[in-house]
Formats: sequence, C-alpha cells, structure tokens
Amino acid sequence: MKADILRALRESGDYVSGQVLSKELGISRVSVWKHIRSLKEDGYVIEASARGYRLVSSPDLLLPCEFPGWEEKIHHFQEIGSTMVVAKELARKGVVEGTIVIAESQTRGRGRLGREWLSPKGGIYFTLVLRPKISPAYAPRINLMASVAVAKAIRKAFDLKAELKWPNDVLIKGRKVCGILAEMEAEMDRVNFINLGIGINANTSISQYEKTATSLKEELRKEISRKQLLNSLLKEIAKQRALLTENKLLEEWKKLSATLSKRVKIVAPGEEITGRAIDIDTNGALVIKGKDGSLRSVIAGDCIHLS
Ligand code: BTN
Repeated sequence: MKADILRALRESGDYVSGQVLSKELGISRVSVWKHIRSLKEDGYVIEASARGYRLVSSPDLLLPCEFPGWEEKIHHFQEIGSTMVVAKELARKGVVEGTIVIAESQTRGRGRLGREWLSPKGGIYFTLVLRPKISPAYAPRINLMASVAVAKAIRKAFDLKAELKWPNDVLIKGRKVCGILAEMEAEMDRVNFINLGIGINANTSISQYEKTATSLKEELRKEISRKQLLNSLLKEIAKQRALLTENKLLEEWKKLSATLSKRVKIVAPGEEITGRAIDIDTNGALVIKGKDGSLRSVIAGDCIHLS
C-alpha cells in the first residue's frame, strides 16, 4: 500500500487530498494517514496541509515500498552481516520463491570461494530466494541467468558496455562491477532452494589502487539511482528466470561474454587449466581447448583472462 501512495504522490507532484488517496486506493482516510505516518518514519518528507499531502523528498534507501509488486516479499535491513545468512534462514523456514533480503550495507559480506565482499553504503546488496524445479546439475545456469540479467539491466539503464566473465562476474572495460554468489540446498535429484546473492558497485568509490574493480559511479562520473536500477534488474531477472531451461539463455550469455575466444587460466580446486575458452555447455560449464587440441569442460573455478 505504501508503494501505491508513493506512486500517487509522485505522479501528481503536488498536493493530493486524503479523500482522493482513500478513494483511489480503496482504503479509509485513517488508514491513509497511518501509511503516511509510516512513510515519514521511513525517512520520506511529506508535507501535510489543508490541501492534502505532498511528497517533498525520498530517502536514498532500497525500501520495500520502492519496488511495486515485490513489496510484500522484501526484507530490508540498514546493516547486517550478510544477506546470504538471513536468506538461508528464511529459505529453510520455507519462504516463497521471490523472497528478497536487501541490506544497505553488510559487515560480513561474502564473496565466492570464501572471500570477503566489501559492502559499504552506496552499493546494492541483496539475496533472492529461488526454488527452481530443475535437477541440481542444472544449478550453474542460475549464475548465467543472473549475470545476463545484471549486464542487460546495466546496458539498458546506462548504455554502458557491461560484459560477462565466466562463471558469473559482470565487467565494464575489463573491471568487475558486480559479483554473484549462488548457494544451493538440494537432494540428489531435487533442488530445495538456490539463494542468489548479487552485489553491485553502484555509488561506491573504488580505491585508485584497485585495478580490477570499478563502480557505476566511477564509470558515469555521477551517482546513479539505485532504486531505478534494482527495479529494472528485478524485472530482467524475472524475464531471464523464465528462460532458465531454454537454449536461449545460453545464447544470451554467449552474446554478452568477454570470456569466449580468450585465452584463459582456470584455477579450480586442486588444478590449473590453461587454454582457449571456446564455448559453454548446456549446464553452464566452460569448454576449454588446450594447445594439443584436447577439450575440457570446467564446472567451477576462478577464471583469469590472459589475452
Ligand atoms: C563474488 O565473489 O564475486 C560474489 C560476490 C557476491 C556478493 C553479494 S552481496 C549480496 C550477497 N550477500 C553476500 O554476503 N554476498 C552476496
């Protein structure tokens, strides 16, 4: 309901009377007043006069009411350890697919392979609970799906050439702007849930000594609207989610890939593989051609672009 009130106030740009809001939204005037009070507590500045209510300013926060259609499924935190931890607890309790945990900042953000993910304010950090009806072998496709969605959302919103590095990094001019971490609980033949964690360097400042990372703010030389980007990203994820088991998803990934046709070094548990990345297979594994012409499919690992 708060999302509807915000929409009505934003559309008008002027005062909207309590009576009009109550009629438009089908709720009592007391209920309108209670939602307005709650929005003010969230940090929205709303002027009230005899003419009604006027939205003066909105906080730069990823609050549920900023995501129409998702409002009921979003759990928002100012600061937590990691959205992955909270999402796992919720998923184990049986929350529905599409539940999202968002944090403005994380104190123990987690990256792939046990690394830390620095999560200061200004970034976008969230975990989405998914319950796909797929075999666990198909799970790596979730990474492809998410990275395609992020790259497309960034391209559409900012006209930046976002590209994909296998398995699931999003790069701009070769520097990482987004990291994706998928955690799964499954039985041999059935996925219970896959939690998809996405961290985007949006309005964060990257140290000048950090050569492998960038942020949208650094690329565009101005701050972006995190709400707008996350709204488009959620829509894009819903679109790509529908393609999870289709070949089209692999085609989309290939089109956006910065890895294919490059010489790469894959650092996988217990081994290193060097060769040319020539394809991805139906499960999302990277196909590498060695110097001797041999082909290897790699399911997981760190990928370094050599040329
Ligand atoms: C990577 O190593 O590239 C993956 C980084 C994933 C970071 C996101 S931020 C939201 C979610 N919560 C976490 O603790 N990690 C993921």
